[in-house]
Amino acid sequence: MKMIIAIIQPSKLDDVRDELYKIDVNLMTISEVLGHGRQKGVTEVYRGAKEMGNFLRKIRIEIAVNDNFLEPAVKAIVKGAKTGETGDGKIFILPLDQCVRIRTEERGGLAIG
Ligand SMILES: Nc1ncnc2c1ncn2[C@@H]1O[C@H](COP(=O)(O)OP(=O)(O)OP(=O)(O)O)[C@@H](O)[C@H]1O
Ligand SMILES: [Mg+2]
Repeated sequence: MKMIIAIIQPSKLDDVRDELYKIDVNLMTISEVLGHGRQKGVTEVYRGAKEMGNFLRKIRIEIAVNDNFLEPAVKAIVKGAKTGETGDGKIFILPLDQCVRIRTEERGGLAIG
């Protein structure tokens, strides 16, 4: 299992979600975060409101997947979020040790999706 953490432009959230639905990835956690990349928030200000300091509003998406869903999910996020401009975002992929569905106490691959 893997944990995908994607940081994307807020304006791309609907497109990314639609691409994920197309490949049957329907479970995800979204949060609003502040961040900046290597331009330190300076050159992409026109793409969104500037918050504290040079931090910009971003959306963080967390998706836990079985290994066979990893590449399709990454491709779907890229397809939905990419414009080719700076600030399009980044995807981090982490190993995921365990997952427990609290209601049923299922674990692992059964619990994840
Ligand atoms: N190495 C990193 N560690 C933690 N967060 C990061 C990292 N790189 C990017 N981020 C987060 O992702 C957001 C989007 O990054 P961004 O797309 O600007 O990356 P970049 O490396 O500057 O690439 P680009 O040159 O395409 O803009 C940042 O605002 C920040 O929140
Ligand atoms: Mg950047």
